[in-house]
Amino acid sequence: MAKAKKRTQAPAKKVAAKKAATKKAATKKVAKKKVVPKKALPKKAVPKKAAAKKAVPVVKDPPRRTFVRRSPIHGRGVFALVDIPKGERVIEYKARKITWAQADRWYADDDSKPSHTFLFTLDDKYVLDGNKDANSARWINHSCKPNCESDIVDGRIWIESLRNIKAGEELNYDYNITLETPHTPAEKRRWSCRCGSKNCRGTLLGKKR
Ligand SMILES: C[S@@+](CC[C@H](N)C(=O)[O-])C[C@H]1O[C@@H](n2cnc3c(N)ncnc32)[C@H](O)[C@@H]1O
Ligand SMILES: [Zn+2]
Repeated sequence: MAKAKKRTQAPAKKVAAKKAATKKAATKKVAKKKVVPKKALPKKAVPKKAAAKKAVPVVKDPPRRTFVRRSPIHGRGVFALVDIPKGERVIEYKARKITWAQADRWYADDDSKPSHTFLFTLDDKYVLDGNKDANSARWINHSCKPNCESDIVDGRIWIESLRNIKAGEELNYDYNITLETPHTPAEKRRWSCRCGSKNCRGTLLGKKR
């Protein structure tokens, strides 16, 4: 995983107060010149420098490396725009954080339909809700032989490359969905997988412990 570079602030330079240089009077006589004392010129009104503006750190978004289009697996999917090396954070799954209690109220599962979810488990209490105001990571499909994995760090979900990914390849990770109810054959079918990989396990559900 690429490590974030730590920015350190450079220590303020100590500027040594310069002592006023004292000029020694020239002793060498060259020519007699009438010394006209310089009249003190009237001081010009010099506008004070505007108070230095507080520097605003420029935070650049990392260059975009993915795009969304129709997927041969399901609906929309996310694809690599450029070659992506192994072991990098590719995209963050950004969405609002809600509790499981809210998710259960808002998105009741309809057992009669094939399942579809935009919820991403953070922990036992919270889930990221990709249904609204979420970024494009929500379109990433599941694969039983994924090229990415998810990593939860300090409450943020990162999608990271498990291997080198070529530009144009679809990104995917193993959803490994765990239901509260038993993973019956009927549930496995409802969550059936169309990833097309050689060892497809046939379902988006993971192994239940
Ligand atoms: C977060 S969405 C991913 C985006 C989805 N392709 C779409 O257009 O809505 C997750 C849903 O996509 C479908 N999906 C994702 N990967 C799949 C796969 N390998 N096989 C079948 N359906 C999949 C499932 O319905 C899943 O609940
Ligand atoms: Zn599969």
